[in-house]
Amino acid sequence: MRLSLRLALAVAGLLSAGPVLAQELHMGHFHEQTGEEIFHGVCQGCHMPNAQGAVGAGAYPALANNPHLAAPEYPALVILNGRKAMPAFGDMFSDAQIANVVGYVRTHFGNNYPSAFTAAQVAALRSPESPSEVEGPAKEH
Ligand code: HEC
Repeated sequence: MRLSLRLALAVAGLLSAGPVLAQELHMGHFHEQTGEEIFHGVCQGCHMPNAQGAVGAGAYPALANNPHLAAPEYPALVILNGRKAMPAFGDMFSDAQIANVVGYVRTHFGNNYPSAFTAAQVAALRSPESPSEVEGPAKEH
């Protein structure tokens, strides 16, 4: 009881970052397809419309002029698996959606990393061990 209340409060705090996000998280996945749509529909709730980040109830790092975006695998893994106060989006986005939003943030907001990053590369980053991907127990012993 006490634990679930605390969880509910934590989730409420998370979702208060953006009404669009709150609404869409209930749906399990996002329909936005292009990187631009995904950024403005999902990411900007925390990272702000101009990707400058914010400091308030938590610290949301700027994605603008961010050298951490030089290697596309880094933002892709953060999006797939989440990190600290950033939720994991791996189950809510397709590989193509993740490739698109990674491409978008790497080429906007002062970032100039135009190297291609494909859905296949995203797929390769998804852990084959991740529970959501495992269909059934293949117990051999
Ligand atoms: C609920 C709020 C929230 C949403 C929505 C969100 N993020 Fe984040 N993001 C964070 C927080 C908080 C961190 C910092 C995590 C940490 O402390 O390491 C972060 C970190 C990151 C980082 C690492 C930045 C760095 O310099 O290391 C990237 C890249 C990133 N987010 C991209 C995205 C993208 C792209 C989206 C949209 C698909 C997104 N985030 C949506 C909260 C959010």
